[in-house]
Amino acid sequence: MNWQLPLMLAQTNDSNLENLRERTEAISMQGTTVPDSSLIREGTSNPFVTEYWFPTQASSFAGEVDFLYMSIFWISLVFFVAIIGAMVYFCVKYRRKDGVIAPEPSSSHNTAIEILWSVLPSIILVWIFYVGAETWFEMRIPKENAEEIQVTAKQFGWLFTYEDGDQTNELHLVRDKPVRLIMQSEDVLHSFFVAAFRQKMDIVPGRYTYAYFEPIKDGVYRLSCNEYCGTGHSKMKTACIVHTSEEDRKNNTKWIEAEKTPFENGQRIYQIHCSGCHKVDGQAATGPALNLIWGTNEKMIDGTTELVNEDYVLDSIWYPEKHIVEGYGPVSKMNSFKGILDQKDVDYVIAYLKELKSSTGDAK
Ligand code: CUA
Repeated sequence: MNWQLPLMLAQTNDSNLENLRERTEAISMQGTTVPDSSLIREGTSNPFVTEYWFPTQASSFAGEVDFLYMSIFWISLVFFVAIIGAMVYFCVKYRRKDGVIAPEPSSSHNTAIEILWSVLPSIILVWIFYVGAETWFEMRIPKENAEEIQVTAKQFGWLFTYEDGDQTNELHLVRDKPVRLIMQSEDVLHSFFVAAFRQKMDIVPGRYTYAYFEPIKDGVYRLSCNEYCGTGHSKMKTACIVHTSEEDRKNNTKWIEAEKTPFENGQRIYQIHCSGCHKVDGQAATGPALNLIWGTNEKMIDGTTELVNEDYVLDSIWYPEKHIVEGYGPVSKMNSFKGILDQKDVDYVIAYLKELKSSTGDAK
């Protein structure tokens, strides 16, 4: 829209949409892998706009939110210039001059001006309230045909459960299909935030919170936690992928355990449940890196060593406080996964760890 032009050098254009599509495909090919955050870039292909201005408007009310924001911005700017300008002008004009001892008398009252400066701001404020309330209602009242997606936030990752039972750690949506998110936290305060949707909602332990929106543009957007929730807060981000069709989405969310190898099943469990705190690139995070851990002797905080074998992995997943690796104490930051991952799931994780070690271990 034109009112944005002075600040926005360029709005979303076709080539940008094309870029987003390519990125979507790149990510789809990775299955449920969390994409590198460098893949997720919102806004326009103009780097200036991407860096410093709003990301693309990807939800039905994003345009209204931006309109209100820009309206308030320009109203503030106009009044700022007018008021400061008048102040400077009067300071100069009525400054104390040499030889003048008493100030010039000035009129104490001007009914026309007083009515003007009361009525005009009132009209503007009521208008801002009206537009704000209208947008707010649209953000807070779900559409009747909205699909429901369960969101579980935890230190430090996301789990999305769809109506058909599929689960992913990225949010997969369908363009033009309204969404109702039903959100819960496993531990502390988190906050759901997708800037491209202009939607943000806190996730509070011990209760449900909700977020509604309708994605109107396909592409890949950044989904992040917007409430400081611990040492891994800044890493608690994932992708929100808006597909063009339900079928497209299904291809990216369905997972049939029996058709996959133990390694693939283990990798998926790792991505959904572990990747928020454990890295597989050798970097220490909230927990130790897992890529080379299999078969090694790990030093514990009490000075003993433990061989990383099947029992060690099972214990670490079900009873995380049992073995605490040196440098990660004094108490375990991990919640028990007993009841979430059964022993078969642990088998898959073990297969994954073994494969990681043998495929990357030789390089060490
Ligand atoms: Cu979860 Cu910040």
